[in-house]
Amino acid sequence: MAKAAWVTGGASGIGAAVARRLSEQGYRVLVTDVDVTGGERVAAEIGGFFQRVDVREPGDSLAAVEAATHEFGGLDLAFLNAGVATGFGLEEGFSPEAYRRVMSINLDGVVYGAHAAIPALKARGGGDIVATASLAGLTATPFDPIYGANKAAVVGLVRALGPLYANENIRVNALCPSFAETAIITNVRDALLGAGVPLLDVSDVVAAFDSILAGSGTGEAWFVQVGRASEPFAFRNVPGPRTPAGDKAPSADASVQANLGEA
Ligand SMILES: NC(=O)c1ccc[n+]([C@@H]2O[C@H](COP(=O)([O-])OP(=O)(O)OC[C@H]3O[C@@H](n4cnc5c(N)ncnc54)[C@H](O)[C@@H]3O)[C@@H](O)[C@H]2O)c1
Repeated sequence: MAKAAWVTGGASGIGAAVARRLSEQGYRVLVTDVDVTGGERVAAEIGGFFQRVDVREPGDSLAAVEAATHEFGGLDLAFLNAGVATGFGLEEGFSPEAYRRVMSINLDGVVYGAHAAIPALKARGGGDIVATASLAGLTATPFDPIYGANKAAVVGLVRALGPLYANENIRVNALCPSFAETAIITNVRDALLGAGVPLLDVSDVVAAFDSILAGSGTGEAWFVQVGRASEPFAFRNVPGPRTPAGDKAPSADASVQANLGEA
């Protein structure tokens, strides 16, 4: 039976390119987006099907998984990719309104999508969740604090869900591109190029997505950077606890100790 994939934000940019790639690889693809015209076009092009999903609505994600299960007999992969930019510049970008609007798409959307997909992936005996975070989730982003905050949260979520669902054969990883040639950077494209910032081609991001799927790791955040092969970002472990005397703090449980940090 052909594998089945669900793509959010599949009407354009990275989501559309990954939907095309998955279709080439033999997946049956459910394309979802709030952009109905664009989403229907991509779905028709790849012989998939489209459903309108606003990732801010948990019920929309549940309905998408139900539709994929009904149409394809199950779900093997969820690409939780829908996202928006905050609006660059502190004045417009750092406000309670911008915070709620962008967190609800870039973070809530991934939480609701993963929550909806996990039971279907479990029912299939395992599968993949790939969430599109950003390089902004791995570095400081003074140019857009709210975007940096929600992308860092997506990285944190993936790092937690990966080990949590490893025993169910569900891999959960994050795709973390630098600036890429899509509609999301329209307002800043000239400024970026003027400042000499090289832009990724969407095909570079798709290649990184392929590498994630071909890998075996989970809970990883793969950077995608111009001119470099993508790989999981190497996080430094936090320092572990010490007793007042400076000894290593004893821990009854090795797995708890590992999460507390390095000795
Ligand atoms: N292009 C970049 O420079 C870049 C870099 C790093 C990360 N990203 C991330 O990549 C992802 C895809 O963005 P892109 O670059 O392809 O841009 P894009 O604008 O081409 O695609 C984003 C898609 O998300 C959809 N979307 C927006 N709000 C939605 C909602 N509430 N529910 C469902 N769909 C919604 C849009 O309609 C659009 O089709 C985003 O999460 C973005 O943050 C992009």
